[in-house]
Amino acid sequence: MRIRQQHSDEWPAVLDVVRRSFADADHRFVELVERIHNSPDFVEQLSYVAEVNHELLGNIILSKVPLHTQRGVVQARLVAEFGVVPEHRHHGLGSALLRSVLRSAENGMASMVLAAGSPSYYQRFGFRQSTDLGVSSPSAAIPDQHFLMMPLPQYDPVVDRGRPELPSYFAETGVKWPR
Ligand SMILES: CC(C)(COP(=O)(O)OP(=O)(O)OC[C@H]1O[C@@H](n2cnc3c(N)ncnc32)[C@H](O)[C@@H]1OP(=O)(O)O)[C@@H](O)C(=O)NCCC(=O)NCCS
Repeated sequence: MRIRQQHSDEWPAVLDVVRRSFADADHRFVELVERIHNSPDFVEQLSYVAEVNHELLGNIILSKVPLHTQRGVVQARLVAEFGVVPEHRHHGLGSALLRSVLRSAENGMASMVLAAGSPSYYQRFGFRQSTDLGVSSPSAAIPDQHFLMMPLPQYDPVVDRGRPELPSYFAETGVKWPR
């Protein structure tokens, strides 16, 4: 297994992994992932792939989201998409992807990584319910228990509190996110 940054020329292959990982999802989910990729919020250094025998089997994308605080806007990163193709789950690819991209995020400008998903999945990597740290869920559709946050080294617990803003393409694609 090799976990590495996505290369800029392999986006079509990454999108194919997204299609396979979310085969049961609304087709608009893939459209949303494309919108993220084409937006200024996409960070190539925070798009990772899992490769086995030169085949891509999983990927994770952390994108930029603003956190509105009392003292202005703070940069956060969001687990915008994260999947492993069904036939290769339960072999540690997902954990390895998440750990690698989190290490990479530690070297960047953001204060925190946010994620919407299963608390029991994310908590084992150090994520906590964001509201416990003063950061609200960005959407009424995401219950507080399912909105998680991992502080990064730049995190300031006094200042970095507030409300993340999901970029407009989340609503514009009309897809349920997290799917
Ligand atoms: C979540 C996902 C990326 C994990 O990939 P993976 O390669 O199977 O992950 P790992 O092998 O590192 O870990 C597997 C463990 O994660 C846990 N897990 C997986 N999905 C989970 C979920 N939705 N809730 C809680 N725990 C979960 C299980 O404990 C599982 O353990 P098991 O193998 O003993 O059953 C993969 O299941 C997937 O692509 N799911 C569909 C897409 C999705 O929901 N993505 C958003 C993630 S919240």
